[in-house]
Amino acid sequence: MKLFLDTADVAQIQYWKEVGILDGVTTNPTHLSKEKKSPQEIIKTICALLPQGDISVEVTQQDPQQVYEQAKAIAALGKNVTVKIPCQLQYYPIIKKLVAEGIRVNVTLLFTLVQGFMMCKLGVSYISPFVGRWDDNDINGIELLDSLRDMIDSYGYETKILAASLRTVRHFHDALAAGADVATVSPELLAKSVHHILTEQGIQAFTADWAKLGITQFP
Ligand code: E4P
Repeated sequence: MKLFLDTADVAQIQYWKEVGILDGVTTNPTHLSKEKKSPQEIIKTICALLPQGDISVEVTQQDPQQVYEQAKAIAALGKNVTVKIPCQLQYYPIIKKLVAEGIRVNVTLLFTLVQGFMMCKLGVSYISPFVGRWDDNDINGIELLDSLRDMIDSYGYETKILAASLRTVRHFHDALAAGADVATVSPELLAKSVHHILTEQGIQAFTADWAKLGITQFP
């Protein structure tokens, strides 16, 4: 499974890149609205930081023709850019056109198996099911990942499942277990996920026992 960071915070992307576990980044208008620099400048910086990574950038227009033109301009920001487009019927024709033109599309705000199926038929690179936002509405978002995985495997589609809106360590765990192709997680969730209290306690116990030997050099 690939791991993307769900943020537009360049310092966080730099940090996790150096840790060595990052395959890409997903941004959205909300993430970009929190940053001081211009969205264009930030996207270019992220693209340069992760030249081999996959960087998702969302359209902000609404009219389909304008979304089409904006999608092309966004794709031109970097070779590693994937354009995020919301999962709405009005965009189906332009999604199909963009895919035919070789532009990688990540369909976002996806909430049902049928929406996922439609996007597979259009040949998009990624679908982004929003797990946490389903859970906010008392529906098990992880079940959607399971059914999308079954559907894609049964019919042999190429589209990748990008598990999004993951809010808890359990969501992250379940996305892995469901066979998502990518999980995108916030820097806060990633930091929380990599720690375990038993690891910390184990290190403390080993360190204390080793100190009893009074050895200064080993080996
Ligand atoms: C990812 O592509 C989405 O932008 C993100 O995961 C949304 O997460 P949220 O539902 O926590 O805002």
